[in-house]
This record gives sequence, structure tokens and C-alpha cells, in this order.
Amino acid sequence: MTKKYAITVTGITGTTGQYVLPYLLLNLNGDINWAVCSRSKAKAQAQLDATVADLTAVHAKLPDIVEVDLTNQQDINRLVTDTEVVVGMAGPFPSTGYGLQTASAEAGIGYVDLCGDAPHIAKLIREYHERAETSGSTLINACGTSSFLQDTAIRWLVSKVGPLSDVRSIALEMLGSLSGGTVNSMTLNYQIYGSYSALGGPSSFSSERNDTTTATTKLWDYVKKPAKEPRLGGMYVVPSMTQSINTCTVLRSYTLLNRVYGPNFTYAEYDKSRNRVAASVWTFALKCMTGMMRTSWFRRILTAFRPPGTVPSKRTTEAAHATFVIVGNKLDGNPVYMKINVAKDPMYVTAATCICLAAIELLKQRRSGTAPSGIVTPATLGPQLFDQLQEHNVAAEIKSSWP
Ligand SMILES: NC(=O)c1ccc[n+]([C@@H]2O[C@H](COP(=O)([O-])OP(=O)(O)OC[C@H]3O[C@@H](n4cnc5c(N)ncnc54)[C@H](OP(=O)(O)O)[C@@H]3O)[C@@H](O)[C@H]2O)c1
Repeated sequence: MTKKYAITVTGITGTTGQYVLPYLLLNLNGDINWAVCSRSKAKAQAQLDATVADLTAVHAKLPDIVEVDLTNQQDINRLVTDTEVVVGMAGPFPSTGYGLQTASAEAGIGYVDLCGDAPHIAKLIREYHERAETSGSTLINACGTSSFLQDTAIRWLVSKVGPLSDVRSIALEMLGSLSGGTVNSMTLNYQIYGSYSALGGPSSFSSERNDTTTATTKLWDYVKKPAKEPRLGGMYVVPSMTQSINTCTVLRSYTLLNRVYGPNFTYAEYDKSRNRVAASVWTFALKCMTGMMRTSWFRRILTAFRPPGTVPSKRTTEAAHATFVIVGNKLDGNPVYMKINVAKDPMYVTAATCICLAAIELLKQRRSGTAPSGIVTPATLGPQLFDQLQEHNVAAEIKSSWP
């Protein structure tokens, strides 16, 4: 049955949505019918008009605008019935996004989203992975920079240098700000799930939950104390804020891809720290913040500081960028390094590129009958996704020594 829309995008009026709209107007084929959603048609129309006026050329058809309230089941049913691939950007996903996620899993369609809420994804996999497989749906969460970047980068690196062990991603530099939507999602996750430790460990998304040989159990030890990375000249590293979602996603890819990353593959994620003192202070602060996030008063303060709807300033967005290094050991024991520069705001601008690449690739694979089914990961769509990302704001370089 031919569907009305190849792609339907929710949350188009949000912080990330504002960057998705120009990307799709410039990059979608002119024969593709697509739609964008908002609870207010007038709001989405104003955004579409302003975006088109800003662009020097538009290659895609203009999208239909559909009024959708994701708390209304009839709206959700209409959306999944009409669409081949849904792009979910309306968070927070544990509340606003859940109805659309589950309806997509039942409807036998494609679905990608920005959800980076690890405990929520673990629950979705437990409840809906098998149903999505049976219905022929493909659901891919975490298609924003977290976890698309590290997940597809590792698949790409393995395709270039072969199997790896002891893989670490370390953020050397990260500049940017958080939207009200992101803070809202973070606080809601703590409110619902109590704590990220409720996840049960880094292999919570994979079927090999009890397999301690593949689980980087040491990840959680690093929350207690700073560590050194000998392959980076003894650099001090501290736990990264995105470690839960990215580690769980990468390890799920590893199991879904039948361990193609190597028999001794492990993965963990950190941020660079200047020295031992800075690392100890940050690790302690992170521990305190994790504890305080469990209290409703701290969540209220955080939300008051960044209420829903707050968008990072243009100046902050223009200055935002990031640099990562992924280090692993090849089968011969020698280390390999991949340096990744993200030239544009990783949180929202690059996240918009990532989710658009995932949506377009998933549409292509579903039409050719090669898409995986179930609740899968960005990397399961193939290493070429990271090649495509490098055509945008991301540059990667593989090296055999550091620096
Ligand atoms: N993984 C990553 O790298 C990454 C990166 C960026 C963002 N995120 C996540 O993505 C989510 C969105 O963040 P954001 O800052 O881009 O969004 P935002 O600015 O908070 O915007 C939220 C969007 O959701 C829509 N929305 C809210 N309630 C709705 C409902 N009931 N029905 C339909 N639409 C509804 C709003 O549309 P209308 O008001 O027009 O209806 C708006 O467009 C958050 O969960 C955030 O954590 C993840």
C-alpha cells in the first residue's frame, strides 16, 4: 500500500527541528511527499515560511503541515497510518513521545528519534523489540549526536581497520549549551526512573545483559574516581555525561551486528580532564549532581533555570563545537586513534544532520527491503552513514600514534 508521506517529522518547531527543516528542504529528492507536524498549524506554517525565505534554493517539495497532538491517540494513529518513516523530535520521550514510539512499533513502519533517555529506551526494548520485529517495524532511537556519532563512527572505524578491543571515546573539547527541551527530558527521566543506575549497567540495551566479558563494568567505577588513559599519554579522564546512552547503544550495535567488532570488544566513554585535581573535583561534582537529580527541589531549580521552550542563543550555537578521540587496540595489539572534529553545534545543529541522515537512509533501506527490523541502532544501517556525516560538519582522521 502506498502511504501518503514518505517522511513525517514531529517537533519541527523545536530547538532541533529548526535545523531539520532547512536540511530536508535542501536534501530531500523532489519526488518525495513529506509532512511536518505541530500542535499549531499556524506556528509550523510561520516557521516553514521563514525557513524558505532564508534559503537561496529549495530542492524538495514543500511539506504538508499536519496538526498533531501526540497526547491524542487518534492523531498518532493517523500519523503512523499515513507515513513510511516517522522522525520523532517531540520530547520528552518518556511522556510525549512514548505513544508514537509504541504505535510505530505496532504499525510495521520506520521510525527514528532523538531520544537519548537511556532508562526509557531500555524499557522500550524490553516491551516492544519483539513486537516491532513481528510487525516489520524498524525503530532507531538516539539518532541525535548522542548516540549516532560514536555509534556510526565505531562501525566505520572497524570497517577500515578490522576488529578492536578496549575501545574508549574521549571528548577532548565540547562547547555548547542545553535547550529547555533537553533539561526537561533529563529531569523527567530522574523523576520516573529515580536514577540512571536503575539502568542496570552498560549492556542494558543488549540481549547479553549478564555477559560480563563484553560489558564494560569498569565504566561505573570511574564515577567513583578519575582514571588515566595510558594510550593518550596518561591523560586524566572523567565520566562523560553521555556515557550511559552512548555506551548502551554501542554495545547493542555490537550484539545486533553479531560481534563484528571483535571477540574482546569493550567500550566506555569519558571527557578529558586537565589534571588529577580537576578530575577529582569534577568526579565528585558529578556524583553530587547525580544524587541531587533524585530530589524534586533540585529538578525544580534546574527547570526554572532552563524552562521548556528555552533555546540556546544564536551566539552560543555559533560558537559550539566538539573534538573527540576514539582509541582502541587492533588485533595485533597496536593502538589505533580516530580524531573526530564536529565543526557545528553538536547538541542541536549536528544532531539535526544526524537524524536526517538516519531517516533518509532508513527510508531507502525499507524501500529496498534491506532494513533491519525491531528496535535497532544507527550503526545497524551500515558504516556508510558515517561517510555521509563526513560530507557535512564532521571530519574524521585515523592515526596510528598520539598525538
Ligand atoms: N540525542 C541527542 O543528541 C539529542 C539532541 C537534541 C535533542 N534531543 C532530545 O530531543 C528532544 C527535543 O528537544 P528540543 O530541544 O529539540 O525540543 P524543544 O525545543 O523542547 O521542542 C519540543 C517540540 O516538541 C513539540 N511538542 C511538544 N509537545 C507536543 C505534543 N503534545 N504533541 C506534538 N508535538 C509536541 C513542540 O511542538 P509544538 O509546540 O509546535 O506542538 C516542539 O516542536 C528532547 O527530548 C531532547 O532531550 C536529543
